[in-house]
Amino acid sequence: MGEWTLGIETSCDETSAALLRTENSHTRLGGLVILSQDIHRVFGGVVPELASRAHVQAIGSVVERALADAGIGLGQVDGIAVTAGPGLVGALLVGVMYGKTLAMSLDRPFVGVNHLEGHLFAPTLEDPELAPPFVALLVSGGHTMLLDVPEWGQYRLLGQTLDDAAGEAFDKVSMLLGLGYPGGPAIERMARDGDPNRFRFPRPMLQELERDGAGRYAFSFSGLKTAVLRAVRSATPDNLQVADLARGFQDAAIDVLAAKTARATEELGYETVMIGGGVACNRALVSAVRDRVAGNARVSVASPRLNTDNAAMIAAAGAWRLARGEQSGLDLEPRDDLPIPGLIVPSPARGHA
Ligand code: KG4
Ligand code: ZN
Repeated sequence: MGEWTLGIETSCDETSAALLRTENSHTRLGGLVILSQDIHRVFGGVVPELASRAHVQAIGSVVERALADAGIGLGQVDGIAVTAGPGLVGALLVGVMYGKTLAMSLDRPFVGVNHLEGHLFAPTLEDPELAPPFVALLVSGGHTMLLDVPEWGQYRLLGQTLDDAAGEAFDKVSMLLGLGYPGGPAIERMARDGDPNRFRFPRPMLQELERDGAGRYAFSFSGLKTAVLRAVRSATPDNLQVADLARGFQDAAIDVLAAKTARATEELGYETVMIGGGVACNRALVSAVRDRVAGNARVSVASPRLNTDNAAMIAAAGAWRLARGEQSGLDLEPRDDLPIPGLIVPSPARGHA
């Protein structure tokens, strides 16, 4: 007998619902609706109050549409998984309250899911072979983490960003270059036509990889962003080489991400790497990691629709937790800083934090 899990995601500016069918530990996506809130483009970033209101307006129809696409009714839902954080609290509240209310009225189990664990599960929707142990590079608008995943539910932090997240750096550089929000796709498009030799920006914290110490697998992107800003300021409007600047920035960011991911994979002796989060849509990043681990490990990445925020990944992580008998109470509250369950942060004394 299979089970249907309803996933709900409202952590930022996407209102999303998905239905995932699990049968003998195989999963099949029955329906996925992702409604992106366009309004934030006007402001060059997400406006929390507007995001919450838009979620309230959309959530009911989004869930109904996903059910219709899956060809089932609410009564056939066996469990409910909702993003409980990290994210914008007001936005998260909409999904959490909606999920709780459904769980209570349908009398079904309900679980709060960590958004980042959702990103880790995303590739399993298309790549059933993805299984630990693997190294995970999580790169989104809010987070940049390198993780050792010996088992599902166990995430050993190798390193994370000390300042801006990778996606945030793409977004900020995009604004500096006048390419708008969200920045990742715009920078990637521009960089394709850019000259890789015109701007060589610093590779932040790359040297630390060769030293033993806490910063080995850490990242930093704010200095790189400032270096781009300086180059923009020293240009005159008619010689502003936007494509070359985008290329220089993207090459520098990717170089560090790919080098550290590949080194961690090699040191752990793993044969699999997964890249998740919105920045995993970047093809240059994925090919750079593939090139560096070629012959030793394979790279698992979801398609773009499942890399950026969506409820299918929340349903996948939630179905795994529900199958283990985990449930949240109706007192579940969203948290903007919700830690990944099972996150192990090695102490600096033991290095690699
Ligand atoms: O995971 P996600 O959808 O939302 C968060 O959880 O933050 O990630 C969004 C981020 C944005 O910063 C966006 O600019 C970035 O992912 N992104 C990209 C690309 N597509 C999206 N960054 C680089 N290259 C891309 N093609
Ligand atoms: Zn995300």
